[in-house]
Amino acid sequence: MARRTKIYEGKAKILYEGPEPGTIVQYFKDDATAFNAQKKDTIEGKGALNNRLSEYFMLGLTQLGIPNHFIKRLNMREQLCHKVEIIPLEVIVRNVAAGSLCKMLGMEEGTPLPRPIVEFCYKDDSLGDPLVSEEHILAFNWASQQDLDDMIAIALRVNDYMSGLMYGVGIKLVDFKIEIGRQYEGDYQRLIVADEISPDSCRLWDSKTGEKLDKDVFRRDLGSLADAYTEVAKRFGLMPTNNVTEGPKLVE
Ligand code: TMP
Repeated sequence: MARRTKIYEGKAKILYEGPEPGTIVQYFKDDATAFNAQKKDTIEGKGALNNRLSEYFMLGLTQLGIPNHFIKRLNMREQLCHKVEIIPLEVIVRNVAAGSLCKMLGMEEGTPLPRPIVEFCYKDDSLGDPLVSEEHILAFNWASQQDLDDMIAIALRVNDYMSGLMYGVGIKLVDFKIEIGRQYEGDYQRLIVADEISPDSCRLWDSKTGEKLDKDVFRRDLGSLADAYTEVAKRFGLMPTNNVTEGPKLVE
């Protein structure tokens, strides 16, 4: 492989300069971390699964006209993406109470929420990505009011799309996290979905059994993470069978 300039290495991905200006190559590692990297492991196959799943979800967003960074998948572990300036906020959408919301408010995991709830966390590992309010975001100039309105609208559209897609394959989308970046085209800039959408950044429960098919399997030691992600990929027909990739299969 030709030598490339590394831009950034995170916990689950590495970003390299892309072949054209304004592009990057996103490399998916097999590393899994939780609780701000206090728990770590290498899960063989995770990088390839997330690369494929994120490609599938981002292409769906593109078809709906929800702008995102994905250009094309290059190989098993890499995808070509538009370069963005990441807004330092994790945008979380919740449909069902789970995880930190339950901890914070003493709610029982699995309680349906009266409406989707959008939360923002300030991206800073040394602080543990704290939950912040719109007041903090505006006061510290992490994003403008217009950016916030756009981010909420994008997050809710992604939620509608992903919820429906998951419903169709017998999975409940409990919550998810996206990252949003600024894409510059000359004087013009717009906000687009960046990073990844994968079982690393979503909570996915089997609709019938409640089985967890996401990174909570790793966080809570519930079994094989690779098996859980493979199950998600299978439901979308993304696991190759005799070199033929089937389309998604609807469950009854
Ligand atoms: P939380 O309940 O731990 O706040 O997580 C909410 C959602 O965000 C869940 O789907 C997992 C995802 N998430 C990430 O993608 N990265 C993170 O660092 C954290 C804490 C959560």
